[in-house]
Amino acid sequence: MNKKSIKDIDVKNKKIFVRVDLNVPLDDEGNITDETRIIASLPTIDYLIKNNAKIILASHLGRPKGKFVEKLKMDPVAIALGKHLDKEIKKMDYVISDKVKNEVKDLRSGDILLLENLRFDPREKSNDDNFSRELAKLADIYVNDAFGTSHRKHASMVGICKYIPSVMGLLLEKELRSLSSLLKKPKHPFVTILGGSKISDKIGVVRNLLNVVDTVIAGGGMCYTFLKSIGFEIGNSLLEEDMLEYCKQVLDEFKDKGKKFMLPEDVVVAKEFKHDSILKTVNIEEIPEDWLGLDIGPRTIDKYKEEIMRAKTILWNGPMGVFEWESFEKGTKEIAYAIIESKAKTVVGGGDTIAAVKKYSVADKISYITTGGGASLKFLEGVKLPAVEALNNK
Ligand code: 3PG
Repeated sequence: MNKKSIKDIDVKNKKIFVRVDLNVPLDDEGNITDETRIIASLPTIDYLIKNNAKIILASHLGRPKGKFVEKLKMDPVAIALGKHLDKEIKKMDYVISDKVKNEVKDLRSGDILLLENLRFDPREKSNDDNFSRELAKLADIYVNDAFGTSHRKHASMVGICKYIPSVMGLLLEKELRSLSSLLKKPKHPFVTILGGSKISDKIGVVRNLLNVVDTVIAGGGMCYTFLKSIGFEIGNSLLEEDMLEYCKQVLDEFKDKGKKFMLPEDVVVAKEFKHDSILKTVNIEEIPEDWLGLDIGPRTIDKYKEEIMRAKTILWNGPMGVFEWESFEKGTKEIAYAIIESKAKTVVGGGDTIAAVKKYSVADKISYITTGGGASLKFLEGVKLPAVEALNNK
């Protein structure tokens, strides 16, 4: 990697601005429902504490659209982080204010201060130059450890790098290494399992993986547009009409290259999009007009499992069906069990897929779970992440 890392610089007694991605899911009462991203940020913070740095942490939480939103304050994140580190976190009520500047001045080595939600300020998203400069003035060095936000050209991700030395944090480095290893010299057979609802989110990844992957296994809502593009009637199943042509092209490209793109042979269809809807399993050419596909069927599961068992590398992004509902969870559940039974190196990404591997208690048997949703897809599409590009070269 040609970017400088936190390990390449002296951080002792320096003020370090660490951009983390602590955008954690919250329930209706504002409680954190999954602390994965907080835990993933700990190695860099620990490293800085041990090396006597003065730490200024900053993150966004949710999408407050440039305004203050009470339930998107960073307070619960500060509490959770403090518990993990067993340390006091000085939580600020503003992103930039005189109080923040004074607190920063008073920081001692090993102290940690957490700014308020960066996106309460509209200048964060617009990558405003003055805002970037104000953030930079707080510190001596900038560390990007927010892999999950690195596809965003925001002030705390990109603009700030113009003003102070800027390096990678340990999580960012680990994410880039793990995902790069999929694109460069993966062990074959390399099987990519793609699901979830939107094809438009995944098509770039499929295209970019065409050269490295051996087989794509498709499920979830997105597979119905592929099926329709080659002439199947899909009833009321999810359809992205404007992607039909594109899907057909992708299938042709896979065929031309002698690679497999596997689509379901049977599916579980429901009369309505409801957890307790009437349902049945049908062959793919028999989807009734008013029904919709909500999971892959048993024959498809078996075929997909065979492919998974042969794989040496597996990338999984997107569930096979509506796994949140018991009646339509079988495909996703069986795939989750199959990938941990296989001998392959397994990489899992995307919020829903991570929720699925946790639901079926297989998360700790996955080789690598990326903290990035959109960012990991962009990376796997082969797109250069602006917030990584902005960092200093070695
Ligand atoms: C994510 O959850 O993928 C990151 O935190 C980025 O959030 P965003 O999609 O709101 O920019």
